[in-house]
Order: sequence, then structure tokens, then C-alpha cells
Amino acid sequence: MARAVMAAALTLPAALSAQQSERIDDWWSPGQGTPLPERANYSNAGGMLGVFNQAGVLETKGHAFFEPLGSNGRACVSCHQPSDGMSISVATVQRRWQATAGRDPIFAEVDGANCPNQPRGEASSHSLLLERGLFRIGLPWPPRDANGAVIEPEYDLELVSDPVHCNSDSEYGITSATPTVSVYRRPRPVANFKYFAYPRGPGLGFNIKDGTPLDRDPETGYPSTMNIMADAREPTLKQQAINAGLGHLQTQGRLSEAQLKQITDFEAQVYVAQAYNEFAGSFETPSAPDSLGPVAVANGVPGLGDNLHNPVFGFYESWKREDFDGSADGADEFKASVARGSDVFFLRQFWLKDTTHINSIGLGNPLKRTCATCHNARMTGMDLAPGWVDLGTTNYPTWNGPRTFTEDSPLPVFKLTCKPGYKTHPYLGTVVYTHDPGRALISGRCVDIGAITMQQMRGLAARAPYFANGSAKSIAEIVDYYDRRFNIGYSEQERQDLINFLSVL
Ligand code: HEC
Ligand code: HEC
Repeated sequence: MARAVMAAALTLPAALSAQQSERIDDWWSPGQGTPLPERANYSNAGGMLGVFNQAGVLETKGHAFFEPLGSNGRACVSCHQPSDGMSISVATVQRRWQATAGRDPIFAEVDGANCPNQPRGEASSHSLLLERGLFRIGLPWPPRDANGAVIEPEYDLELVSDPVHCNSDSEYGITSATPTVSVYRRPRPVANFKYFAYPRGPGLGFNIKDGTPLDRDPETGYPSTMNIMADAREPTLKQQAINAGLGHLQTQGRLSEAQLKQITDFEAQVYVAQAYNEFAGSFETPSAPDSLGPVAVANGVPGLGDNLHNPVFGFYESWKREDFDGSADGADEFKASVARGSDVFFLRQFWLKDTTHINSIGLGNPLKRTCATCHNARMTGMDLAPGWVDLGTTNYPTWNGPRTFTEDSPLPVFKLTCKPGYKTHPYLGTVVYTHDPGRALISGRCVDIGAITMQQMRGLAARAPYFANGSAKSIAEIVDYYDRRFNIGYSEQERQDLINFLSVL
């Protein structure tokens, strides 16, 4: 059985290359003006992704999410493509490079190049976007609070390696006239927001993990969910859209209230999830698991997952009967594998160790738990609490690259030294080498160094590579990352089952 499933999975890369060459037609150009269907499917490595616009067919002509509103020809949709799970895969980036000789607006210097002043049209100037799907995020140094006042950081920041020449640049770097720290991150999916970026009412005003005050919606004064962006720097989707306009789109001034409303209305009604697989067929039949496909996501109820009554990604009982149709097409094996993979995700325990904001908040270190301990929110697998955690994806030792800092990483390396008198990083101590200080670049705190807000887990098959810094090239590399990081020791069967499970979300 195990062998059959693995053989089935191994046939996917061939199918992938055929699909990738066809995929060019799925590209959504800014201002193309065609309607977004109520329900569309787009093929990808794992089968097909479904996009569901709950309000019905969307007229995109004149719509602020789809029109180029700034000076560089980009729209929001440029980096948040329906076919790519409302993110953009590195395969799509590479196809755009080839199709346009590097002139597509996604490559705009502002953040589509390693640094704005590098020659456009040369692949080497865009290496991080072309190789890992990463855009430059330039953050003010030192950090500022919501009112623009300087937050005195608890650490000194030094640049120790700058292979892409931006943080050391005299015009754009850390010591320029407008001191900026540049980190490089993947676009996060724009969909399924009712689960983690909804406007909150009054209520708990502090982070239950560490008691710090939550950021607030500048308009209502209510606390934010603090799960938007890798560093949770945006309290609301509206605030995010204002800054995305000014930054990525290079708009003259702030988007108008009408434009912002169009964007946030759309964000509140668009749902994305994998919907079809060549072995299992459609995920949207009455006998399929109850949380697959974008319509199920749209109909779900937000909240904390609970393994027994309301699991994060639903029940897979209907796919557990390994013998239910008996044909030799791989369907039974695949469905059974996904169902076992869901058990691996929810029930297979391992020792969680040395992760800030999980092991450091009084739960214990090590702590014997599962994937769902961190990925606990219904339907998206976000954290219901503010989700920034130092999983080890950006700090040294890394588990996806050399364990210690070397000169040959493609990403910049910073050395952060905590000043005396502050709580240090709980597991790495006073001095931390990192590619991306994450939340610490916003809060200025040492305990936040390398903490990244987990992103939702829907439509994964449509948007490789993974993790904020694109360090996992495939779903298999995500699973192998955890296996190394927490010394889990998955069997070959567990590993393949977990990969198949993640590929149908
Ligand atoms: C040049 C590419 C690009 C463009 C254009 C772009 N984005 Fe993004 N978007 C990103 C990146 C990169 C991130 C992740 C940034 C981070 O984590 O720090 C992101 C994150 C987001 C998120 C956060 C999602 C989450 O789960 O945290 C939202 C919402 C979003 N973008 C909306 C928009 C809107 C609205 C526009 C148009 C006004 C837009 N984006 C234009 C690249 C882009
Ligand atoms: C200690 C908390 C924690 C545990 C346990 C955990 N994760 Fe994660 N997960 C995270 C964080 C934090 C991120 C974001 C990291 C980043 O982007 O650098 C993440 C990201 C992900 C992503 C999203 C990748 C993307 O780019 O969209 C997937 C998929 C994932 N984890 C799967 C798993 C699986 C499978 C397990 C169990 C083997 C697991 N996680 C266990 C914290 C955790």
C-alpha cells in the first residue's frame, strides 16, 4: 500500500512540467478588465486550486485590487494571482521573466529587485525574486510605533553579510539618510481572511501568550488579531492596503476611501483552497471530507480547532475506507493516505523544543505536542493567538541551510546583540545571527528575534516555495524541515501521508 501511494505521488513532477507550460494563460495582468468568475479552477502541481468569490461574479474593470493604481504598472493582483492561491509562485515569476524579458511590472525596482538601484533587466539584479519568489521589504530603522515615534531597540544591529548589496547601500541601506533594514519575503495569500484578519470588537486587549498590549485598529480603537504580515506590523487589512499602495504600487498618495473599501470588501469575500486532485477527483462532492475546497472554507465557522469535535481541517473518515471502490486508479490509496496524513498532523506527537513564544510561555520545554498545537485555528491553520514564533526558519542555527553562519547564503545576515539589562532570546542568548529578525524589527524586543507570524496553509500546492523566506522549495521540504528541526523521525509512510495531506488543503 505504502509503495503504491508513493509511486502515485512520484508521477506528479512529469504532470507538473506539462501543466506549468500551459499555465501562462492563467496570468492575470493589471487592468485586463475581465470578470473574475464566482468559482474558478486553476491547475497546479497537486491538481487544481479553487477560487470562490462569495459575492458572485466580480467586475474587475475599475476595481482597485485589479487596476494599476500607481506609477509602476502593478496592481495588487500582480503579486496576488488567483491561479497561485492569491500569492505568486516562483515558477510563475520565472515564466513572467521569460515572457517579458524582465519587463513585467512585478520586477519593478522598488521591491522586485534585490535593491532599487541595481540595473533593471539583468537577472542578477532580481536573483532573490527569480530564485525564491522573494520581494524586498524595507523597514525603517530604528523601528517606529503607530504614531511614528522611535522605539529604542533592545539590541544593536550589525550587517555581517550582504550578498545582494542593499543593506550596505549608501542610498538605501542601514546607514543611509533614511536608514532602512531590507529583508526579503514571500507574498502571503490574500483570501480566507474571516478566520484571522476580521475586525475585532472590544475585548481582550493583550496578547494571551505574553501579556503585551495588542496593536489597535486606528479607526475603531479595538484590538487587532495581529496575524497580518510575517511580522504582524499591520493591525488591519485597511491599514495594510494603504501601505501596499504606497509601497508596492508606488501610488502618489494614500488610496481613496472608495478604493480602500473596494479592496477590503473583496478581501472579505474571496476564498481559496485546493479543489481537485488527479487521483481523488473533485473534493467538492458530498462524500468528500467536509473542509476541503473553497466553498467549504467560505461556509466554515471561525474559531479554535479541537481534534475531537471540530478539527482544524475537518474530518477525513469518508476517505479512510481503503477499499471503497476497489478500482486500480490510485484513488483509494491516495484518499487513504490523505486521511492518515491528517492523523499525522493532528495526533502524531513529537517534542517541540526551543521555539520562542511556544516553549517560552510556560507550557514547558520540551513539550510533547503535535503540528496542530501551533496551527490551531479552524480552516486556515493559523494561530488563533498572535502567531509569531521563532521556529528556526531565519535564525542561526538554521535547519534549511548551513547550521552556522557562512558567507555563502543568498540572503543578508544580521548580527543582533542584546543590550545589557534586557531579556535575551530565550534559547540563542545575547548574540543572534539571522536573515530576518522578524517581529523584532517592529517591536524592538530581543525575545522577538526571528519570530515570524505563521501564514495560512490553504492552496499550498499553488504557491511554492514556502516559509516567509522561501527556504522550503516543496511541500516535501516543509515536512523534512520539521523532521530535522524537532528530530521527529517520521517513517517513510508518515512522511508521504503528511505531504499528501498538505497538498489537498
Ligand atoms: C510586489 C508584490 C506585491 C504587490 C503588488 C502587493 N503585495 Fe500584498 N504582499 C506582498 C508581500 C511580499 C507580502 C508579505 C509581506 C510581509 O510579510 O512582510 C504581502 C502581504 C499581503 C497581505 C497580508 C496577508 C497575510 O495573511 O498576512 C495582504 C492582505 C496583502 N498583501 C494585500 C495586498 C493589497 C491590497 C495590495 C494592493 C494594494 C497588495 N497586497 C499588493 C507582495 C505584494
Ligand atoms: C512551534 C510552532 C509550530 C509547530 C509545532 C508547527 N509549525 Fe508549521 N509553522 C510555524 C511557523 C512560525 C510558520 C511560519 C514560519 C516562516 O514562515 O518562517 C509555520 C509555517 C508552516 C507552513 C506554511 C508554509 C507556507 O509558506 O505557507 C506549513 C505548511 C506548516 N507550517 C506545516 C507544519 C507541519 C506539517 C507541522 C507538524 C510537523 C508544523 N507545521 C508544526 C509554526 C509551527
